[in-house]
Amino acid sequence: MGNRFENKVAVVTGGASGLGEATARLLVAEGGKVVIADYGVERGEAVAASLGDAARFAPCDVTVEDQVAAAIDLAVDTWGRLDGAFANAGIVGVAGPISETPMDDFDRTLAVLVRGVFVTVKHAARQMQTLGNGGAIVMTSSVAGVQGGLGPHAYTVAKTAVIGLARSAAAELAAHGIRVNAVAPGSIPTAMTAHVTTGDPDNLEKVTEHIARTSPLGRAGHANDIAEAVLYFMSDGGSYVTGQTIVVDAGATSGAKMSPAWSGTRMVVAR
Ligand SMILES: NC(=O)c1ccc[n+]([C@@H]2O[C@H](COP(=O)([O-])OP(=O)(O)OC[C@H]3O[C@@H](n4cnc5c(N)ncnc54)[C@H](O)[C@@H]3O)[C@@H](O)[C@H]2O)c1
Repeated sequence: MGNRFENKVAVVTGGASGLGEATARLLVAEGGKVVIADYGVERGEAVAASLGDAARFAPCDVTVEDQVAAAIDLAVDTWGRLDGAFANAGIVGVAGPISETPMDDFDRTLAVLVRGVFVTVKHAARQMQTLGNGGAIVMTSSVAGVQGGLGPHAYTVAKTAVIGLARSAAAELAAHGIRVNAVAPGSIPTAMTAHVTTGDPDNLEKVTEHIARTSPLGRAGHANDIAEAVLYFMSDGGSYVTGQTIVVDAGATSGAKMSPAWSGTRMVVAR
């Protein structure tokens, strides 16, 4: 229990599971209040109930603007303020060869991963500007947004767009003291990655083993590793940072596993 989000209020979309749930729990553990906005009603209600009076659940499909607006407004109506918003709800979406991608599926994928994030930023900014106390908005991108080949095409398009939106919204909203950033997770064991890797969203053990084998740091990431990055952006520690994307992937996309040619031999190259 800390105080890095003490007496502050946030909305977390996709807060019923995985990265969103871990973030909601961390924000509450650090003294805050959260609205968990998710279309998974049973799971969302259970997570909110487990957090007691520090949480409310808002049934919310992020592709429906009125429901997003209502989830954001619930935070303000309940606690009178809005300090943070985590636009995180997501799916893998359509996968497969680009030449065979049904465009309806492409549109549905982007409706969640781009439009759903955009509309969350829109309504968080609306409330934060009205309240006049600044705020911090964080969105979930992915390593697929910083490097090709790490996700399906539509997913990659969407997660790249999120990085652009962080810069664009930050440029407008800085004048209101509202910061906008993104987090780009590597593979983290959640229902989503368990489903993709093993076919079973509940098989966290197998996906954890799988991720640990390929991680430069020799362990699988944890949803809390992402929650900590979100908290950094939302807390005073991140108060001079906006328009940025932080990659949380054990160094995988920075090439953190050094080639033996460079690390195995001691040599001095001189002319
Ligand atoms: N787990 C990873 O390795 C990883 C890596 C990079 C990015 N991400 C991103 O992180 C975010 C969270 O994913 P996760 O891994 O926690 O998965 P998850 O499946 O555990 O959680 C996703 C949550 O989003 C909710 N959701 C999905 N579509 C929604 C909609 N239209 N409206 C409202 N809620 C909706 C689901 O009900 C679920 O509770 C996603 O945006 C995902 O793309 C995850």
